[in-house]
Amino acid sequence: MSGQALTQSSMENSRGTRLQQRKGRRLVLFPLPLKGHLNPMLELANILHSKGFSITIIHTHFNAPNSDDYPHFTFHPISDGLSEGEASTGDILHLLLLLTVNCVEPFRDCLARLLSNVSEEPVACLVADAIWHFSRLVADSLKLPTIVLRTSSASSFLVFGAFPLLREKGYLPIQDSRLEEPLQEFPPLRIKDLPAINTCELEAFYQLVAAMVNESKASSGIIWNSFEDLEQSALATMHQDFHIPIFPIGPFHKYSPTSTTLSIQDHSSIAWLDTQAPNSVVYVSFGSIAGLDETDFIEMAWGLANSKQPFLWVVRPGFIRGSEWFEPLPSGFLETIGGRGHIVKWAPQHEVLAHPAVGAFCTHSGWNSTLESISEGVPMICLPCFSDQKVNARYVSQVWRVGVQLENGLKRGEIEGAIRRLMVEKSGQEIRDRCIALKEKANLCLKQGGSSYQTLEDLISYISSFFFRFQATSSGLLDGLL
Ligand code: UDX
Repeated sequence: MSGQALTQSSMENSRGTRLQQRKGRRLVLFPLPLKGHLNPMLELANILHSKGFSITIIHTHFNAPNSDDYPHFTFHPISDGLSEGEASTGDILHLLLLLTVNCVEPFRDCLARLLSNVSEEPVACLVADAIWHFSRLVADSLKLPTIVLRTSSASSFLVFGAFPLLREKGYLPIQDSRLEEPLQEFPPLRIKDLPAINTCELEAFYQLVAAMVNESKASSGIIWNSFEDLEQSALATMHQDFHIPIFPIGPFHKYSPTSTTLSIQDHSSIAWLDTQAPNSVVYVSFGSIAGLDETDFIEMAWGLANSKQPFLWVVRPGFIRGSEWFEPLPSGFLETIGGRGHIVKWAPQHEVLAHPAVGAFCTHSGWNSTLESISEGVPMICLPCFSDQKVNARYVSQVWRVGVQLENGLKRGEIEGAIRRLMVEKSGQEIRDRCIALKEKANLCLKQGGSSYQTLEDLISYISSFFFRFQATSSGLLDGLL
């Protein structure tokens, strides 16, 4: 046998062994089709795949992931029933309410079909986004356990969970006259830090939150894109009070060097950053949903310009309400700043935050952005817009103390001052030092012996135990034991 043939045959053997190892360990994942949810679910899918599980993704047509980017997964689209107008709405609550009604039956049909396909590997469990609150009951009816992925922080989940109590005590709905009052139940939060959204359908929002919390707690376990050292207190409360295991195994994006891409990224960002001095650039991005009105956008532009620091700014098309892109920029603005600013529609954020030129992140405090910034040791200027972002911002500035929060809306002087404080002045040095210390913890927790590393091992054993139960039940092995 030639050396080449030998190599070929041993490769086939090892592939055969891998397939055999994989056999019988299929997971079905059901991501919510919003980038801030889809990204971490796909990252989790990659983590679980690397641990030997086969991955099947059930997804809506709306914001469907590009299956070509994930040839190692199997994709099953389901109908979401959204009209063109509904799919392009900026009203996220309305969108979620539609999706959580429209997708129930298509999801049930798809899952039932997958489970009845005997030529496929048996499915060990469903991993569903917490917002898909109906999915546990559907999976239960098909005798499949559900593990929930909650893509926001553990701390904000506890606040969402306390909504009934906070309503009873009159903290919710939020009254303008009480904004500064401290929340005794959740220090250091104030009433104004409660997760709120701008809607006239408040009751529907509360019901969605309650369904999300109750169904997560009724599932077989919750996975968090977080880590013990970061959210010790909230996670300890959950370990103690919840009757299900919880698995903080983040930060997800640090498991693999390749990042998930759900939009076309402008790689000119990195080429431009390469020309800038270390720690000199302010990176500005408000995630995938939040928008600004024109006045705030212009204040932001002048704040950045006046700070005299170079900046990389993600301005998504439609980010400024009522505008296509960044037309409202004052005429002459770009000329004034010369080459000091670079504006893109979407950036490779993981690479940007890891770039040595980036010295601060002006953010809307979405949980993914917060965790990504922490993981790279980049101090934050927080401008939370809605929902959990307000809790995250308060934690950044008051608990972890790795950034500052702008409290009085978007004013150019405040933006300029915050940038200078974080990047130039001596008073920002302590914040910068804490950022580096937290970054080290974020990296250590993934290494052998670290908390996320160990919790991932626990999660794998836990999921594998479902499969054992499933096999034993179908073969009668556990008769009389269960
Ligand atoms: C939403 C909510 O706003 C957030 O509060 C919640 O925790 C999750 O869902 P989003 O607003 O999109 O998410 O913010 P964020 O959680 O920060 O997620 C944005 C993601 O898009 C991040 O992973 C970020 O890396 C990525 N991104 C953003 C890019 O890759 N490029 C960009 O230019 C901007």
